[in-house]
Formats: sequence, structure tokens, C-alpha cells
Amino acid sequence: MKLYLCIISFVFQISNLESKIIPDYLPKLCSISTNNYDECATNTLKDWGPYLLNGIKEINFPKMHPLHVPLVAVNRTLSADLAMDAVLRDALFYGFNGTQFKYFKFDPQTKTGELSFNVPLLWATMEYELAGRAYTLDLKGSGYCKGVTSDVEFLFQFKLKTVEKLGINYFTFEKFVGKSTIENGYAKLKSKDPAFQYALDLIADIFNENPRRLLDAFHPVYEEMVTYFFGLLGEQVLSTIPAQEILPE
Ligand SMILES: *[C@@H]1O[C@H](CO)[C@@H](O)[C@H](O)[C@H]1NC(C)=O
Ligand SMILES: *[C@@H]1O[C@H](CO)[C@@H](O)[C@H](O)[C@H]1NC(C)=O
Repeated sequence: MKLYLCIISFVFQISNLESKIIPDYLPKLCSISTNNYDECATNTLKDWGPYLLNGIKEINFPKMHPLHVPLVAVNRTLSADLAMDAVLRDALFYGFNGTQFKYFKFDPQTKTGELSFNVPLLWATMEYELAGRAYTLDLKGSGYCKGVTSDVEFLFQFKLKTVEKLGINYFTFEKFVGKSTIENGYAKLKSKDPAFQYALDLIADIFNENPRRLLDAFHPVYEEMVTYFFGLLGEQVLSTIPAQEILPE
């Protein structure tokens, strides 16, 4: 398997050891000794929502509306009938502003947790190069693509561990798994070379006729990408904020 993805350039801050990293304008994180920590953390996450959408540069969290992903390359053969070799460039995702946080759970003893949210409508535009196959369908072409998906569920399960950097403890993921389902989808493909537009319309028509078929077929690739992307995003934030600021006593 090969899966590359690069998100926002990693900007590591040289932190002043005494100063807090999380800016004061953000709602305070819950103390780990709070009785109903999960409920408190879920509510805080909702309060953070508007700030997360705009990006929080102090904690290396990217802007989510729209979310810009410069490059994604996937080359994956699932079976003799199913293969995807795709390069996506300059993808812009819209719709995270409609995110509905469901819950955040964390067990301080085992340092394991879960985060669940739903995005009712998520759409993306991107440039793509595609060479793959799905059953008898040849997925070939390059150009611009617009995709719309609805009712996208996300669930992340993680386990944290502590690492020390320059005398300060930070969290990192010991385990991180993303699960996601897409209820429905719609795609429009535009060829750079008009001569190939007909072939791309055909692929889009076949997808749009029965989105479930291809969504289900490529679901494992999709979940790998979700895990990889959000895992990197999480690591980027965890490596910026000292552990005791994330889980205050
Ligand atoms: C994808 O993998 C196939 C088979 O391993 C290989 O032939 C092809 O060159 C790869 N494509 C890229 C862009 O690496
Ligand atoms: C999200 O933003 C888009 C514009 O980019 C807007 O059309 C849409 O209504 C917003 N959705 C919500 C739930 O605020």
C-alpha cells in the first residue's frame, strides 16, 4: 500500500517554556478531575467549533472552512477488479461548518478515547489524475472534479501516550483509527482535454446512477485516507500543546 498525503505545512513553534500555548480567547478545557469529564469535554468541543472552522494557528490547527488539502496520492489495489491510482491536487472541502459534534469520550486511566461527529453535507472541488478500474469500468482521466456527499459520519478511536521533548511532556497517538461512512454521493468530472469529456461523463453517470456501489467498493481506501489525514492533523496539534495543558488537573 502506498498512501501519501500532505496537509498544511507543519509549522513548529518555538515555544516560550513558561507561556501557555492554547490562546486565552478559547473556551477553557475541562479539568480531568471534573465529575462528568466526557460531557464537559463534548460541550467544550462544541464551543471550540467556530474557532476550529477558522483555524487556530497557535495550536497548528488548519482552517476547516474551506479545508485545503494540497496533495493526496493513493495507489491501491483492492482486488483484481478494484484498483485506484489517483493523484488529487488542491482539494477544497466545504461543509465542515455544518458539523454536528455527537460525543467525546475519554478515559484518563487507559488514555483511550473516542470522538464522533456528523457532517450533513460535504462537498469538494479538486484537480485529479485517475487511472484505476472498478469491475468492467475503466477509471481513467484527468481534469477537475466536483463531488458532493451527504450525511458523512466520522468516528475516531485513539489511545494516547506521553513523550518528553526538551523536558516537557506531550501526548502522541499510540493508536489512532478513523471510521467513516458516506450515505450518498454525487460527482461531476470535467476533462482538461474536451476530447475525453465523453468518457468522463460516462464514469460520472455510472457513479451517480448508483453511488453506493463505488462508495462501498472503495470504502477501505476511503477509511485509510480519513485515518491518515485526521491522524496527522491530531498529531500536529498534540505535538504543539504540552500534555498538562490538554488535560489540566
Ligand atoms: C501504482 O502501482 C502500480 C502497481 O504496483 C504501478 O504499476 C504504478 O506505476 C503505480 N503508480 C504510481 C503513480 O506510483
Ligand atoms: C456553510 O457555509 C456555506 C458557504 O460556504 C453556506 O452556504 C452554508 O449555508 C453554511 N452551512 C451552515 C450549516 O452554516
